[in-house]
Amino acid sequence: MFEILKYPNKKLREKAKEVKKDENVRKIAEQMLKAMYSAPGIGLAATQVGIPLRIIVIDITPPDQPKNPIVLLNPLILQTEGKTKFEEGCLSLPGLFEEVERSSKIWFTGYDLNWKEVSGTAEGLLARAIQHEIDHLDGILFIDRLSPLKKKLAIRRYKELHSSTQTR
Ligand code: CO
Repeated sequence: MFEILKYPNKKLREKAKEVKKDENVRKIAEQMLKAMYSAPGIGLAATQVGIPLRIIVIDITPPDQPKNPIVLLNPLILQTEGKTKFEEGCLSLPGLFEEVERSSKIWFTGYDLNWKEVSGTAEGLLARAIQHEIDHLDGILFIDRLSPLKKKLAIRRYKELHSSTQTR
């Protein structure tokens, strides 16, 4: 099972490379989904498991409903519309939740595991999750989207949360 890297692991700051057809993408994505579901979480980027490739997995389905995993390879946001604030968390920053401003609607594109192009629009939680995970591929964490003061306070709170319990 993949281990999800936690802040301040330096690998979370790496910029991921485009994934190519010959790489073992399907296996990586399947293992990422497994790690995401067991966390549990609604999204995971390959960067978070120490693999610097542009692969994200998302499932925003409520826990009581059948799973609906989304895998996007080399995802891109083509266009955005509007702004919205909502509370976010991250498997790499356990216990921390902050309101983050994101685009409310996005036009995105990428590839699925069969290398079929997947394009569409997303709003609400899905739009937020895609933006959050693509940020990870660029080495950006949600705390980087806060004001400098709020970021400082969030990092302080995170350190307090994890000072007694040693995190790997
Ligand atoms: Co995250």
